[in-house]
Amino acid sequence: MVHTSAHDSAHDSRPHAAAPATVPLRPMTVPAHEAEERARGFYEVMAQRRTVRDFDSRPLPEGVLEWAVRTASTAPSGAHVQPWRFVALTDPARKTRLREAAEAEEREFYGRRASEEWLDALAPIGTDEHKPFLETAPVVLVVFEVHKGPHSPRPYYTKESVGIAVGLLLATLHQAGLATLTHTPSPMRFLNDICDRPTEERASYVIPIGYPAPDAHVPDLTRKPLDEVLIRL
Ligand SMILES: Cc1cc2nc3c(=O)[nH]c(=O)nc-3n(C[C@H](O)[C@H](O)[C@H](O)COP(=O)(O)O)c2cc1C
Repeated sequence: MVHTSAHDSAHDSRPHAAAPATVPLRPMTVPAHEAEERARGFYEVMAQRRTVRDFDSRPLPEGVLEWAVRTASTAPSGAHVQPWRFVALTDPARKTRLREAAEAEEREFYGRRASEEWLDALAPIGTDEHKPFLETAPVVLVVFEVHKGPHSPRPYYTKESVGIAVGLLLATLHQAGLATLTHTPSPMRFLNDICDRPTEERASYVIPIGYPAPDAHVPDLTRKPLDEVLIRL
């Protein structure tokens, strides 16, 4: 994306626009000698994050969800449109509707729509059409992308913006000791009805949130080493 500055306005064919208002930056000041330690500390917390699929029904501690959504909303977004909405489902009847609808879609996915290649990629993770966590997790957060509609402007780089917001959300919840599952039933149109959201909003993630069940297990996965994912030129 090209951000035009006041200096570029001479090349802009539109009528002269006023320079945007600015405020002084209040930078995070981290002494250089502490920078690596701070970064490593955050890595060590985040390296413990795992996607959890077995939840306890214990409720979330007061206020954590709200802080996590506030943090998610600090994400950068294309043209600062902030094209996200977070719908927190806690009502058992709604979560049951969600589970039933999601499992119907997933039965189609695993039984018919998924390619052999996709099923092979999922095999080590061990997922299938059963989604009990949609009922057991105390909160199921459904994340919507907000597209252009009667009450919303056109967003830019919507998927990227919402993806960054979700990353911050997952990091905050992990930091608060909660487990999450980034779930993406496909397709997701049925979620508008369950979450009472207008058609210009499109669900992109379903995130059960809670404490892991005491006997929760996770797939034995390894993460790629730094020298494979960081290329220095
Ligand atoms: C965009 C996205 C979609 C995902 N969809 C699903 C899903 O539908 N069901 C599921 O069980 N896990 C899903 N996952 C979780 C991944 O399987 C998981 O992140 C991956 O196996 C790595 O495990 P970890 O998160 O424990 O490091 C998804 C993750 C992402 C980022």
